[in-house]
Amino acid sequence: MSHLATATRQGAGLDIARVRADFPCLHQSIHGRPLVYLDTAASAQKPKAVIDALAHTLGHDYANIHRGIYELSQRATDLHEAARSKVQDLLNARDAREIVFTRNATEGINLVAQSFLRPRAAAGDEVLITAMEHHANIVPWQLLGAQMGLRLVVAPINDQGELLLDEFEARLSDRTKLVSVVWVSNALGTVNPVHELIARAHRRGIPVLLDAAQAVQHRPVDVQDLDCEFLVFSGHKLYGPSGIGALYGKAELLEAMPPYQGGGEMIESVSFEGTEFKDIPYKFEAGTPAIEAAVGLGAAIDYVLGLGLESIAAHETELLAYATRALRQVPGLRLVGTAREKCSVLSFVMDGAHPQDIGTLLDLDGIAIRTGHHCAQPVIERLGHSATARASLGLYNDHADIDALVHGLRRVNSMFG
Ligand SMILES: Cc1ncc(COP(=O)(O)O)c(C=O)c1O
Repeated sequence: MSHLATATRQGAGLDIARVRADFPCLHQSIHGRPLVYLDTAASAQKPKAVIDALAHTLGHDYANIHRGIYELSQRATDLHEAARSKVQDLLNARDAREIVFTRNATEGINLVAQSFLRPRAAAGDEVLITAMEHHANIVPWQLLGAQMGLRLVVAPINDQGELLLDEFEARLSDRTKLVSVVWVSNALGTVNPVHELIARAHRRGIPVLLDAAQAVQHRPVDVQDLDCEFLVFSGHKLYGPSGIGALYGKAELLEAMPPYQGGGEMIESVSFEGTEFKDIPYKFEAGTPAIEAAVGLGAAIDYVLGLGLESIAAHETELLAYATRALRQVPGLRLVGTAREKCSVLSFVMDGAHPQDIGTLLDLDGIAIRTGHHCAQPVIERLGHSATARASLGLYNDHADIDALVHGLRRVNSMFG
């Protein structure tokens, strides 16, 4: 059964008390106060199912993969490849060969830059991004610019943090060799109209890379329906372990691309005269992979699909609306990023209080938020700030977390406002 069907079967209601019981890390005190974790956009906490999968793999099923003829190695290989099938299922990819394991979303973007774009682009060619990209979707293109003269073109946003569609379209040209856009902004929470962006790029025959680092944990994703050429995400933001992520790429594109890195695991045969590479996806997976992390990612995918991504989305949408209303009532607080379509993220500034002061004071109340530019410095500066405070929601957050945040922020205001 597809994950969409699973989600429908689950219905809309999540039992958050039961969900929270699945996350051991949430049940602790910080500075004598119960932890309120509001930094899921940076990294998500892990359910017991993921922790158990890691422990079980390391304790019972661990050996290097793809090499051993012995039982234990074959078991580890099967688990690793089963995790690939789970990623395929999560993304509804046509073929498991279209799923390349990476360290994270960042590595996936660098892989596309170096193996897809570099061989295809000439000096003066362009990659089109948006003004709200994470550094992971800026710096790899700048590196490519320094290597071969690629130009970075940026589609602007309005003061609410929404992409200007006509401005985006106006920047598509014969020189555009790739559109690389974030689906959900980690700094603002803006949800980009990716179907529309892909359609507009495709009308001109331009391939599209989606940065789904803040999307896959919040909504069902279907790469066949999206028809994007590439999509990347990180396991650690999807309630899985760090050190593992995935790149989806259309098979015919991956097949035509040279390897990203060379080494063991990715070869069919090697001599000093030359090397024959394995087929996709293995030719992109040089060296021993993050074996147990891949299994943990598979467990995380089972977990979110078990709850149902539609149910998760419904819960988080309601909570974001509740939090937005509540934060607007805090004296001296201004939300940064007020797009009509938003997901999970509340960035804000407060009169008289630097974001670092806000974060430090909230920490004393046991409340974990992020402060700074959120690895998206250009968009924070575009909206007139050098830093913001950011609360971000995960499937385990509830109204009590938001009430605690608002209580803490009122205290900040009474001290600094
Ligand atoms: C939108 C977005 N893209 C890319 C990344 C990079 O993710 P990672 O550091 O896991 O590679 C992040 C991480 O915060 C992100 O939020």
